[in-house]
Amino acid sequence: MLSTKENKNSDIKINAPDSFISIEVKNLKKHFKGKRKIESVKAVDGVTFHVEHGEFFGLLGSNGAGKTTTINILTGAVSPTEGTAVVGGYNVRTDLKEIKEIISVCPQEPSVYTFLTGIENIQFFGNLHLMSKKEILERAEELLKLLGLYDDRKRKTKRYSGGMLRQLSLIIALINEPDILFLDEPTVGMDPRARRKVWEFLGSIRRQNRTVILTTHYIEEAEALCDRVAIIDYGKVIAIGPPKKLIEEYEVTNLEEVFMKITGRRIVEGI
Ligand SMILES: Nc1ncnc2c1ncn2[C@@H]1O[C@H](COP(=O)(O)OP(=O)(O)OP(=O)(O)O)[C@@H](O)[C@H]1O
Ligand SMILES: [Mg+2]
Repeated sequence: MLSTKENKNSDIKINAPDSFISIEVKNLKKHFKGKRKIESVKAVDGVTFHVEHGEFFGLLGSNGAGKTTTINILTGAVSPTEGTAVVGGYNVRTDLKEIKEIISVCPQEPSVYTFLTGIENIQFFGNLHLMSKKEILERAEELLKLLGLYDDRKRKTKRYSGGMLRQLSLIIALINEPDILFLDEPTVGMDPRARRKVWEFLGSIRRQNRTVILTTHYIEEAEALCDRVAIIDYGKVIAIGPPKKLIEEYEVTNLEEVFMKITGRRIVEGI
């Protein structure tokens, strides 16, 4: 049964952590000041969507569409200009501490310590989550093997390729088994083989009680992995639904054509 609770600092009713809704975003806006103060960049411009518990949800859009800014608001890296965002039942404006306990983020730019090896990085981040050494090593071994990074675990990460750094970031984001996982362009810059490996891996970590929000501008990635996608353009959601349903609805053969039908542009050539 759905349960709701009153948020402590807001008069809106929100879903409690045990409800079916994992993330709820309403009329979310983030406007950055432009170079001249009169202009502002409407990075996120009135976005509304929800993500169900256990869902694999995609934000698909061109460069500069507002995907990272949306993720940054949901993970507490930037504050919204307007609107509401609730993550795991907690309000991003008031309950960031609680949110940080249930989420993990794999950022667009991998941030690992290059003077440490792969396994040392994993141990370092596992320690931050107060996991025991045994727990970290067991989980690390499983994830390293799944991603094909096991043989490189003792190499310094400054010798890793861009794709390997992304894979390591993914492992670090998953080490504490988060309830809600944010993946910002997890396969960008990877060759097709490495990308398929990550897709296989992401398919394998799909489970009922973990919600995954992924941003991408790869059509194939969104179609292969996501239960539902929000297509986002110039800070606005222009279409939302399961990939197959959107393709049917717009009478086209893939999500690129859905985007083209709505905007007259291609996603990658975008803006
Ligand atoms: N801190 C900032 N200050 C000013 N403008 C910003 C800031 N962060 C983002 N923007 C602008 O907001 C818009 C959305 O950027 P965002 O990074 O969210 O896009 P994105 O969809 O993640 O793009 P990409 O696919 O390139 O990662 C862009 O026009 C960007 O230049
Ligand atoms: Mg981005």
